[in-house]
Amino acid sequence: MKIIVTGGAGFIGSNVVDGFVSAGHDVVIVDNFFTGKLENINKKAKLYIMDVRAEELKKVFEIERPDVVDHHAAQMSVPASVANPHFDAEVNVLGAVNILQCAVKYGTKKIIFSSTGGAIYGEASVIPTTETYPGNPLSPYAITKQTTESYLHFYAAHYGLQYTVLRYANVYGPRQVPHAEAGVVAIFMEKLISEGLPTIYHFDDKPDGMTRDYCCVKDVVRANTHALMAGEQQIINISTCVETSTVQLYRTILESLRERGIAKDAKFDNPHKGPARAGDIRRSCLDNSKAAKLLNWHPEYDLKKGIAATVEHFLR
Ligand SMILES: NC(=O)c1ccc[n+]([C@@H]2O[C@H](COP(=O)([O-])OP(=O)(O)OC[C@H]3O[C@@H](n4cnc5c(N)ncnc54)[C@H](O)[C@@H]3O)[C@@H](O)[C@H]2O)c1
Repeated sequence: MKIIVTGGAGFIGSNVVDGFVSAGHDVVIVDNFFTGKLENINKKAKLYIMDVRAEELKKVFEIERPDVVDHHAAQMSVPASVANPHFDAEVNVLGAVNILQCAVKYGTKKIIFSSTGGAIYGEASVIPTTETYPGNPLSPYAITKQTTESYLHFYAAHYGLQYTVLRYANVYGPRQVPHAEAGVVAIFMEKLISEGLPTIYHFDDKPDGMTRDYCCVKDVVRANTHALMAGEQQIINISTCVETSTVQLYRTILESLRERGIAKDAKFDNPHKGPARAGDIRRSCLDNSKAAKLLNWHPEYDLKKGIAATVEHFLR
């Protein structure tokens, strides 16, 4: 299968490219290196250094004629979307529309879109949260993701373009950077490896910090591979369905580092505590039974195993 992966130089996209290449697919990357890195590029993939908003994108589609586009390119920082909603909307909405127009013109059959369960549901009153829970975006970033989902619905209805929306929980793992949705994993690791003491932000009613659903990127790659052949016209959570507090996450990372002789000092048992930051969602945990049913997908990495794989990467 010929697949264009946008954002294939980034954290999740590059892992997805590696998964597709290993499965024998013909992969083309489109990335403008806004946050992506050359060292993440799979040498067996073809690379176009290009902005997804660019007029010339159609030339890439004309030459490559992809069967599938797996769209990962995005402005993915929530605080940056609040600071500059214009830029956020340009990249995330107009970039997606440009891709959809090219897809229709050049016969692409399917779009896989990386959306966000961590941000679209807002402060959900139902935990674990299913895909039917009404969207309540609390940031421009989440609004652009929800808007792109609506565009996909339109392009499917109007042009017959197939799609699968994958609403990721908080994704962590090898190649992750500190400013992403699950950036706290990278922040704790970098701080502890350099023998610094991290800060855990807590709410008055949640002294262990907020809770998140931490999904390992290796499982996210498998979800994308399964979505090549299934989940047509569906929105599907990709998550562990396990709610983990920031303190639990911190302890898991600390334990994993200590097994490798790092952060042994007793001071690391008591990280700094700071007040909750404005805009932080208290709880997030996504139901994943739809992914099991429609994609035959189940997470294989629990937090301990996923953190161990991530620690290996950070130490390298
Ligand atoms: N990291 C998470 O926990 C998480 C959770 C939910 C959804 N997502 C989504 O997954 C996708 C990948 O996120 P990530 O964490 O790997 O982020 P990332 O920043 O590592 O990857 C994004 C990639 O897109 C590229 N890019 C950005 N703007 C571009 C543009 N205008 N044209 C072409 N390329 C562009 C960047 O250079 C980078 O390589 C994003 O769409 C993000 O919203 C991530």
